[in-house]
Amino acid sequence: MIEKNPRLQTTKVQVQEAKKTAADEPIIENVLRPKSLKEYIGQSGIKRNLQVFLPAARKRNEAMEHVLLHGPPGLGKTTLAFILASEMNVSIRTTSGPAIERPGDLAALLTNLQENDVLFIDEIHRLRPAVEEILYSAMEDYCLDLVVGKGPSARSMRISLPRFTLIGATTKLSSLSSPLRDRFGNVLKLEFYTEENIKEIILRSASILKIKINPDAAMSLAKCSRRTPRIANRLLRRARDYANVHDQETINSEMVLATLDLLEIDELGLNATDRKLLSLIAEKFKGGPVGISTLAAASHEEEATIEEIYEPFLMQLGFLERSPRGRLLTDKVYNHLALDKTHL
Ligand SMILES: Nc1ncnc2c1ncn2[C@@H]1O[C@H](COP(=O)(O)OP(=O)(O)O)[C@@H](O)[C@H]1O
Ligand SMILES: [Mg+2]
Repeated sequence: MIEKNPRLQTTKVQVQEAKKTAADEPIIENVLRPKSLKEYIGQSGIKRNLQVFLPAARKRNEAMEHVLLHGPPGLGKTTLAFILASEMNVSIRTTSGPAIERPGDLAALLTNLQENDVLFIDEIHRLRPAVEEILYSAMEDYCLDLVVGKGPSARSMRISLPRFTLIGATTKLSSLSSPLRDRFGNVLKLEFYTEENIKEIILRSASILKIKINPDAAMSLAKCSRRTPRIANRLLRRARDYANVHDQETINSEMVLATLDLLEIDELGLNATDRKLLSLIAEKFKGGPVGISTLAAASHEEEATIEEIYEPFLMQLGFLERSPRGRLLTDKVYNHLALDKTHL
């Protein structure tokens, strides 16, 4: 049986389990990644688009147009990039914006591609300007204009490239320069999932990881997963840890609730940081509007973290709005936080 206050009984085993699973996370993430469009749950708008786009590119037997994937973290951008390459039957090379330090690094990646291959650049909004600039002609004309050497002996060199497909992913579309954005033939926005889809993802992951979970427990988990597959998969593993520690084979709703309580996640999926941000705006800034940099300073969170990780879901819930003068709480929040607006 599970005792009433699980927070008091965090055992050493649980802590060890948590550390171990955190280290395993990237490996497990790969294991759980759907490999084909058929296995990819939800995102029906994107799938409809791809059902036209992919067969058309295959029929022409040429590289797909460049694709830009954007949306909050954990919604399936990397997964989709791998699926696109596999549906096109081509190889994929992966890198990320901050990892490409100099134009030469990008040149090395591009010249090593085979005809029709995919180059995946994660966090493409963080490309250095000098690198971004040579990407333009690579994307448009499949050639590289490089300057070799320095000073009076410098000369420019043009290298032609194989026809490739660039897939870029970003959590922050607004940080992408318009010349770069305009060079993507297909811009796909990933949406938050429905609770039903998240439940389906949890049941799929449970079957891959051989975790037993009741359907109603899967739904309870889904409701607190911020409509995000990565979070759903993480919570599933935490609930599994909880069940293991209590010698239970199947995760039920009670264990889900105890796990969420342990992680300080509420029934909407909000965690301590979300609640801190909301109460700060409510109490210190009288509901807003408050500028993002002021909010960042007051909450000791980074601006980018607030903008890319916390805000999108709070806006999806209808708790927060962006206005030209800053962030603004909606009336909906006050009930949830049990705050009395008239006293603020
Ligand atoms: N549509 C989906 N169906 C099933 N699982 C998904 C889906 N999208 C994402 N996932 C799971 O969520 C995890 C995070 O997805 P990922 O592609 O890494 O997100 P992002 O790149 O957007 O941060 C993956 O390990 C995958 O198992
Ligand atoms: Mg990713």
